[in-house]
Amino acid sequence: MGIQFKPTETFRGDFSYSNSDEAVLRFPFPFAEDKYMYSVNMEPHVRKGPCPVFEHAFDVDEHYIAECHERALVLESDPKRCQVLPHMMAAQWDTLELIMESLATDYPEHFSLTRDGDNWHWINRPLNTDQRFVFGDPSTLPREPFEYITRQAQGDFTIQDQRDHNLYVDGGMVTCQADWSLEFDIGMSFHEWHGPVPLAHDIGVFDRALQYLLRLQYGQPVRRLNWTMTVNPRMDTSPENYPDWGPDKLTVTPENVDRKVHLRVELQTLFRLPRSNGILFGIRCYLISLQDLERVTKWSKRLGRVLATLPPELVEYKGIARYRDMVVSRLAAVDDGAPLSLGI
Ligand code: HEM
Repeated sequence: MGIQFKPTETFRGDFSYSNSDEAVLRFPFPFAEDKYMYSVNMEPHVRKGPCPVFEHAFDVDEHYIAECHERALVLESDPKRCQVLPHMMAAQWDTLELIMESLATDYPEHFSLTRDGDNWHWINRPLNTDQRFVFGDPSTLPREPFEYITRQAQGDFTIQDQRDHNLYVDGGMVTCQADWSLEFDIGMSFHEWHGPVPLAHDIGVFDRALQYLLRLQYGQPVRRLNWTMTVNPRMDTSPENYPDWGPDKLTVTPENVDRKVHLRVELQTLFRLPRSNGILFGIRCYLISLQDLERVTKWSKRLGRVLATLPPELVEYKGIARYRDMVVSRLAAVDDGAPLSLGI
C-alpha cells in the first residue's frame, strides 16, 4: 500500500501538522546515551539500521505533499532560499539524477523515471507532475535542475564543491532550517560555515569530519543525526524569519509545554556526486511533539536526562534556554531513574 499523504496539514498559522501512530513509531530518536555531546557521529547510509527512516536513500513519508507546499510558500516570499553558484551546473544535474533515480526505485507507486538516452520522462504522482526533458539541457526544464528536483523532495539540500582540500557550500535549497542562513553562508568553507557552533571546534570534531568527507566515495553515502527543539511544528525557523518564530518561545507554559515543544531531528545524508565530484548534503527534518514522544516511555526518560545534563553552551546555541527547565521538570516526573537499554 502506498503512503497515506496528509496534503492539507500546515507548518504555520493553525499548525495542523501532526504525526500518525506510524509516524511516531518510525521517528528517528537520536539519543544513544543519557548524555549528549558533539562527535563525528557518521555511519554508512545503508538500507538498514535501527530505524525505518534509514530504509531508503531519501525517506518519503506522510508529510511529503504538505512539506513541498510549505517549501513553495517560503520560496514565493523569499526566492533566495534557493541559490546555486554558476560553476555548480554539473552538480545540479548530478543531484537531479540521484534524487529522481532514488525516488523512482524506492517508491515506484509514486514516482517513475524513464530514460531513453538523454531524453528523460519524470512522473511525480503525489504532486501531479509529468515532465519530459533532455538531461543536460536546462532549457527543457521549467526551472534549473537543482531547484526543479529539490522542490519535489522533503528536507533541505546543499551542494558542496571540493577544491583546495576543503569543501565549499556553493549551492542550496534551504527552507526548513534550524536557524542558519544560506544567503549568509553561501561560498563559505567547511570550518567557516561551522564557525558559530560551540565546543566542537575545540575538540577537533570539524577537523576530523572534514577529513572523512574529503575521502567520501561515490556509491557509499554516509549519514548522521542532528537535533534541536522547536516551538510549534514550524519548518521554517530561519534567521530571515526570526520575528515570526522567535517570540513563540515566550508562549510556552507548564500547561502547554507538551503540545508546544517539539523535538526536531535532522537525518543528514552525504552523497559523492559522479560528474562534478561535489557532495550533496541532505538535511531531512522530522518533528515530534513532546506529547507524542511521551507515548514511548523510554524516549521521554532519555530526552529528560539528556536535557538535564546538556552543556550550557549547547543549551544557548540551540536556543532552548527559555523552556528547557520546563521540559526537564515534566519529563523528570515520570523518570524512575532506572538504566535504559536504548541505543540508536
Ligand atoms: C551545524 C552545515 C556537515 C556537524 C551546522 C550548521 C550548518 C551546517 C549551516 C549551523 C551553523 C550555524 O549555527 O550557523 C553543514 C553542511 C555540511 C555539514 C553544509 C555538509 C558538508 C557536518 C558534518 C558534521 C557536522 C559531517 C559532523 C560532525 C555539525 C554540528 C553542528 C552543525 C555538530 C551543530 C548542530 C547543533 O547543535 O544543532 N552544520 N554541516 N556537520 N554541524 Fe554541520
